[in-house]
Amino acid sequence: MSITILIVDDEENTRLNLEALLKDDGYGTILAATYAEAKDHVLKGDCDLVLLDMQLTDGYGPNLIIEMATMPYHPPVIMITGYGDIETAVEIMKSGAMDFITKPVDFPRLQKAIKRASDFVSMKRELDHLRDSQNQNFDFVVGKSPKMIEIVELAKKAAQKKANVLITGETGTGKDVLAKYIHKVGNRSTKSMVSINCAAIQSTMLEIELFGYEANSFTGSAQKRKVGLMEVADESVLFLNEISSMPLEIQAKLLTAIESQNFYRVAGTQPVSVDVQVISASNHNLPAMIEAHEFREDLYYRLKVVEIELPPLRERVEDIPDLVGFFIHHFNMHMAMNVQGIDGIALEALQSHPWRGNIRELSNTIERAMIFCDGEKITLSDLPLEITRKNN
Ligand SMILES: Nc1ncnc2c1ncn2[C@@H]1O[C@H](COP(=O)(O)OP(=O)(O)OP(=O)(O)O)[C@@H](O)[C@H]1O
Ligand SMILES: [Mg+2]
Repeated sequence: MSITILIVDDEENTRLNLEALLKDDGYGTILAATYAEAKDHVLKGDCDLVLLDMQLTDGYGPNLIIEMATMPYHPPVIMITGYGDIETAVEIMKSGAMDFITKPVDFPRLQKAIKRASDFVSMKRELDHLRDSQNQNFDFVVGKSPKMIEIVELAKKAAQKKANVLITGETGTGKDVLAKYIHKVGNRSTKSMVSINCAAIQSTMLEIELFGYEANSFTGSAQKRKVGLMEVADESVLFLNEISSMPLEIQAKLLTAIESQNFYRVAGTQPVSVDVQVISASNHNLPAMIEAHEFREDLYYRLKVVEIELPPLRERVEDIPDLVGFFIHHFNMHMAMNVQGIDGIALEALQSHPWRGNIRELSNTIERAMIFCDGEKITLSDLPLEITRKNN
């Protein structure tokens, strides 16, 4: 990976010496003699790392780091200072520098600091790349139905307000997809959403997964502290999928955690504070479970500050053409095919099917039809019998 280092120093000799040494190590370099020039480079985003002199003729190095915090791109900074005293060191680190080196520069020490900073830069690049590719793979089809348009508006508002959202709806209506959408459009999308499927985890493990435990909290074995997902989701979104499967004792702990924004790890004595937006999803009737004392009513109200009920597909048939178009495109890409569309009669058959498995079933049907399809378009004969048979 190529790293470009911006060398900022008012002495020409220092700039040129550092440049020669860094070039030998394979780094790209840019030179700046003043605070203003350095700021200009950082604003343009043309360097990955900054070596910054403390005292410049037109400004004070640490101030640049403080200014950089508000810029869209802020590379890590290694400060170079003529003063080795504690006060200066503390001031530099407080300003947000990644490291500092005293003059005269000990080159091996500088090399080490640069290596550390460039590892950080490459890790960040990888993360940005992963995030971009995840966003590309993620698609949310809205369609034309007034219900879905209203749902998307509500979802956006909830995302902006960081409100807890409860998503309900039959299986396959898109609850997972909507949760991802809410995370993506909210201002917490710089941090990943943390998801847990409460139905897929043994109830004894669920508490540990969510809240973590302190070191050596179980007798007979030595373990390290485990950080729970609630903590991992700090300043981001926690997606509790299939919330109806959560045992009552854990519901009580979750309620307290949401209400007070802090909780105790298993066997912990110090509260852990968190700032978490909770999105939960369920395809069970939670009010009926409350009646049956299987779900806590107080938790239910905490979770559904905003409640979004996804309609079954049969109640939004006007969205079927958009969804079909989306799936044809999607499977063309994934199966290296070139299906151009669907004919009118086949589309009509899709619009009159009851779709008990909702969008998941529609997606599977299109995938299967494309495998059968010999021509340019999907026709009735590519669809399964239960869809083409009338009066189903
Ligand atoms: N709005 C949408 N846009 C594009 N694809 C969608 C949309 N909604 C659902 N899908 C597709 O349908 C599939 C099922 O959606 P999802 O897993 O979100 O359903 P669910 O409501 O969580 O179902 P379950 O209750 O069974 O967990 C997804 O994999 C996705 O392919
Ligand atoms: Mg789901």
